[in-house]
Amino acid sequence: MAIHIKTPEEIAGLRIAGRLASELLDYLTPFVKPGITTGELDKLAYDYTVNVQKCIPACLGYQPEGMTPYPATTCISINHVVCHGIPGEKKLKHGDIVNIDVTIVKDGFFGDNSRMFIVGQPTIAGKRLVEATWGCMWAGIEAVRPGNCFNDIGIACWEFIKPLGLSIVHEYGGHGIGRVFHGEPHVCHVPITAPTAKFEPGMIFTVEPMVNAGKRHIMDLNDGWTVVTKDRSLSAQWELEVLVTETGYDILTVSKGMPEPPAWVKGWKKPTFA
Ligand code: MF3
Ligand code: CO
Ligand code: CO
Repeated sequence: MAIHIKTPEEIAGLRIAGRLASELLDYLTPFVKPGITTGELDKLAYDYTVNVQKCIPACLGYQPEGMTPYPATTCISINHVVCHGIPGEKKLKHGDIVNIDVTIVKDGFFGDNSRMFIVGQPTIAGKRLVEATWGCMWAGIEAVRPGNCFNDIGIACWEFIKPLGLSIVHEYGGHGIGRVFHGEPHVCHVPITAPTAKFEPGMIFTVEPMVNAGKRHIMDLNDGWTVVTKDRSLSAQWELEVLVTETGYDILTVSKGMPEPPAWVKGWKKPTFA
């Protein structure tokens, strides 16, 4: 199966969905404070998505083959939770590192992104991992340009993380996105030996590395969704959507509150928002 090259109309629709997904994270940001429960954050996300943005929460009821339907609007993954943390009664506390991953659908187009938050007073280890993972994602994104191939993302992510003594999760990767949530290709954040496709203008996919402070290995909890580090070390993840352009790339999940990329990023500048 080939990787879908988006038409200008599809790119326009995906830009709107991407911006809305990023704005949903902007909206949630001031609520990420010690004492709030992840369930309360999820309720805020649902209400904003449905009532303000007039979008469909894509994760709610999402059921990949062999899985139980996902029960919430957001995935909220704290500390040693790698991904797919189910919101509930758990309260955020000072020093927690938290990933909030949101996916919305607007006019049939998916918008998917996630950010890390440090709750209250940061810990040194938490801040270091969160910043390293942000750099890892951008290192991967900077490899995107026609002529390069998808494996260049994995190589760049790996070379960024290796000298820091951290590890990258192998089992989950980025994905094509469009009128489907998870399309081709699967984007590995580590180098692979199998041949990978070359980037072509009009391809749209996510880059979303999960980086562990300890070993790369993960395990599933019994709730059918939550993934944790096997050694219970901290784990972080950031996610953006990338469009391949004629000369490089553009970011689709962008809004006022998206953090500035690292200073060494050459291929993209954050637009100014009124
Ligand atoms: N948003 C996740 C991703 O980046 C997928 C979450 S699926 C869910 O691909 F069902 F767990 F919400
Ligand atoms: Co994704
Ligand atoms: Co996501």
